This record gives sequence, structure tokens and C-alpha cells, in this order.
Amino acid sequence: MRTPFVVGNWKLNKTIAEALALVTELKNQLGSVRGVAVGVAPVFTALHSVAKRLEGSSIATCAQDVFWESSGAFTGEVSAPLLADAGVTWAIVGHSERRQFFGDTNETVGKKARAALAAGLGAIVCVGEMLAERDAGRTLDIVDSQLAGGLVDIAGDVATQRLVIAYEPVWAIGTGRTATPAQAQEVHAHIRKRLTEQYGAQVAQAVRIQYGGSVKPSNAEALMSQPDIDGALVGGASLEASDFIAIVKAARPS
Ligand code: PGA
Repeated sequence: MRTPFVVGNWKLNKTIAEALALVTELKNQLGSVRGVAVGVAPVFTALHSVAKRLEGSSIATCAQDVFWESSGAFTGEVSAPLLADAGVTWAIVGHSERRQFFGDTNETVGKKARAALAAGLGAIVCVGEMLAERDAGRTLDIVDSQLAGGLVDIAGDVATQRLVIAYEPVWAIGTGRTATPAQAQEVHAHIRKRLTEQYGAQVAQAVRIQYGGSVKPSNAEALMSQPDIDGALVGGASLEASDFIAIVKAARPS
């Protein structure tokens, strides 16, 4: 069965000292929690220190983005091999904020995912529709095209081990408005169907599909109990240890 995976996406928040304080608390308090995998995604400048502090724990250090080339004349970018060198084991790609504000497209998201996987990292590929798209009945079409672009040339055995999809409806991110468990489950089941078409049932049953968008301690359990929701990508509520820990505990298999 799939082990749920809960990742805190800290976005553009926390100094190195603040990041270390938070992960130290997480390391101390989550050490005994079984049955759920946990990760945190600090800003680039804190990655190495956080990875060092998390050594000897099962909490993964994740990057919020990654560039697709390994090295060269690409001012301002950070590559997958250099993330691995810093102690990172997962990269988030295609977050809606990257798509909205930084020009990430389905095609470049696919390049980033392939680069992360080629460097031995795991890739969390984010998909999700905007409000106008949901209102127009286009949710599943949008998710389909994001998956089609994001999963180009990713082999089944690699997907089984190191691919995670995060379904994050854009209208639920940072808005306090969460998809209902039924709304989320509908899209998650659709994503698993597409994975089955691309890879077959065995791979599709192994790939974890996280939900993201205003996940809080109060709504986490209802969302996590849906059959195709395998953990969460948590923004705002991951910045406080107590809220994040409560969400991790809610994701434990019952
Ligand atoms: P939120 O963010 O939990 O603050 O809505 C989720 C995300 O953007 O990953």
C-alpha cells in the first residue's frame, strides 16, 4: 500500500535560523510517528543547513523548484545535481505560483521533472485548475494537459519509486477555501486513471497523489481518508510546528 507523504511548502518564508528552529522541533516531535513520510521545502538558501540538521531523521529535505540543465551559463538557476549535493532528496515542480508568476509551462515542468529524476531526486509534479477553469467545467481537461506535459518520458519503474503528483486547485491555495473531500477525490481518481492508462495498474497504484490547497488540522483527516488522497502539500499551515504535526498525524493510515 502507498505510504502517505506530507510535505510542508514554506514558499518564500523563514531565515536559516527560523528554518532550523522549525525542523529541530519537527525532528524531535515526529520521530515516533509511523506510517507517514514527511518532507519540508525551505527556500534555497536554507536547504543545505536544513538537510544537515535533518540527518539521521526520516524527514526529507525538498526544493521548491529546480532548473532542467545541470550546469552552464544559466544565471540565477539551481540544478538538480547541485540540489542533491546540498542534501536535497525531492524537488517540487510546476507549483501554480511558478506557473502564474514565473512562466513555467507544461513543457518546462516536464523538463524539470525529468531533470530531478535523472539526478536521483524524487519529483513532486503539481497540477490543478484555476477557478474560472473549474467554473467552465474544464478541470479534468486542464489536469490532463498538465499531466501529459509533466510526465513526458518518465519511465514506469522510476515513477513507481520517485514520482509524486500533487493536485492543488489554484482557487484553494492560500485562500482558506478547501476543495471538499469529494471534489478532491474525484480529481485524484481521475489522475490515477490517467496514470493507469500511461503506466498500467501496478505503477498507478504505487504513485502517491497529494492534495494541496488550504490543508489545515481541521480538514486534514476528512481529506486524507479519501481512497486516492495519499498525503498533502501544505503551505501556510506548515509554517507552525503544531499545525504541521497535526496534519502529519491526520495522514497516518487508520
Ligand atoms: P496553502 O498552500 O496550504 O497555503 O493553501 C498550498 C501550496 O501552495 O502548496
